Amino acid sequence: MAVPAVFVEPDGAAMRRTMGRFLTGVAVVTAEHEGEQVGMTINSLTSISLEPPILMISLNFATRTGDAVLGSGKFAISILGVKQEAVARQFAVRGGARFEAGDFDTTDGGLPVIAGALSQAECKVVNHYTIGDHEVVFGQVVASRFRDGDPLAFYSGKFGAFRDFNHDAVPWMF
Ligand SMILES: Cc1cc2nc3c(=O)[nH]c(=O)nc-3n(C[C@H](O)[C@H](O)[C@H](O)COP(=O)(O)O)c2cc1C
Repeated sequence: MAVPAVFVEPDGAAMRRTMGRFLTGVAVVTAEHEGEQVGMTINSLTSISLEPPILMISLNFATRTGDAVLGSGKFAISILGVKQEAVARQFAVRGGARFEAGDFDTTDGGLPVIAGALSQAECKVVNHYTIGDHEVVFGQVVASRFRDGDPLAFYSGKFGAFRDFNHDAVPWMF
């Protein structure tokens, strides 16, 4: 695609394409409210604070998951591996079935998480703000676990694999 000559204020589609150039991992956020389990695929997951451990997710208003997260005050996160693209798709269908098929673990707090995910974390909501057409939710991680594996990546509207991890480690990170 040729580079446009001018900068313009983006509409929704252009905003999606602009930010779609930011490679991300893929996660599923899950919650339970009034006896109903809900969940959806997200890539708005960001680590915010280490001590205390706080992460952030951004959920569209129109989602069932957003209502359940705010209604129950807690949620869980599963960071998907490259072999879990089908799960990412299953949890991204608007209004679609979520827990009828697939393997799930349960956190100590009783929330479903995706079995085999690279990381699983249970969070309690510590703050949330309405920003534009989304609710930005900050969750304190109360319990988590992780395993090694190749991550599922998302770039420019497509799922894929990212395996070029052979560069030097950032020394202060791990
Ligand atoms: C890779 C990917 C990332 C997504 N990230 C988000 C996100 O961060 N926030 C959001 O509100 N929706 C996100 N979505 C869209 C939701 O997964 C989708 O709207 C979902 O169907 C909502 O579920 P519900 O309407 O059945 O509650 C993403 C979808 C995909 C495929």
